[in-house]
Amino acid sequence: MTMSKVCIVGASGKLGRYMVQHALDRGYQVVGVCREGSVDKLDAFKGRITIIPGATNDDEIIKEAVAGCDGVLTVLVPWGILHYSTGTAQAVLDHARPDARLIFSCGWHITRDGKDVYSITFKTLVKVFGWIARLVRLVDIDDQVEACRRVFASDTRWTVVRGSDLEEGESQGLPVWSHHVGDPILKSNITRRVDFALFMVEALENDGLIQEAPAIVGCDTPSAIAHAVNK
Ligand SMILES: NC(=O)c1ccc[n+]([C@@H]2O[C@H](COP(=O)([O-])OP(=O)(O)OC[C@H]3O[C@@H](n4cnc5c(N)ncnc54)[C@H](OP(=O)(O)O)[C@@H]3O)[C@@H](O)[C@H]2O)c1
Repeated sequence: MTMSKVCIVGASGKLGRYMVQHALDRGYQVVGVCREGSVDKLDAFKGRITIIPGATNDDEIIKEAVAGCDGVLTVLVPWGILHYSTGTAQAVLDHARPDARLIFSCGWHITRDGKDVYSITFKTLVKVFGWIARLVRLVDIDDQVEACRRVFASDTRWTVVRGSDLEEGESQGLPVWSHHVGDPILKSNITRRVDFALFMVEALENDGLIQEAPAIVGCDTPSAIAHAVNK
């Protein structure tokens, strides 16, 4: 399928803005969705993208935004305790064209088949962070888990990109990926945010990633260099 028009759900965040830039670089027509109060974070793209302000879990907003789009890039975040992530994923699954490429972002803590192997430190961090976050009612990690469960269960043309720890900085190029956290190539556990966005946008035209949940790591990291076999 030719990719010409794409929707970016959560366009005003750090990952979202990098994705907007990569999408424009590829000559795609871009529709961005972000919360009303965040529209000015997209000022740098004024006149070059269409912005639909609103909640990303609002059915009507998403329906309008994804109309006619060949691809949808969705940032899944566990903010709040109102199932924002799940609502966002569901709205995209319900309203995107059935043949559209759907790319979702999340973290390594999401597992598709239970075969990911996590270090004790990682598991403890997720547990403690999740517990504190829920206590202060800021974040609900289970919401992102449920959002991804619904994506995995759908028969759409989805990809769930699972990001390692992130850092800012110049692009190093397309991250490498593996099927499971714990695979040696991922050991360095760091990716530049700009390259996470690059992987998401490149996935739109990579049919090999359909119904895959790649866990990614920066291509210039020691583990990626030492185990450079996979892409
Ligand atoms: N941070 C990490 O180290 C890390 C590690 C692995 C994977 N990831 C994944 O990477 C992706 C991007 O994460 P990021 O940390 O880089 O964040 P980000 O790109 O800055 O995105 C944050 C998003 O959350 C929205 N948001 C913030 N507060 C909100 C609220 N109270 N209610 C609803 N939406 C709210 C923001 O919208 P506004 O612009 O409207 O505020 C923005 O779209 C996520 O899928 C995350 O799971 C992150």
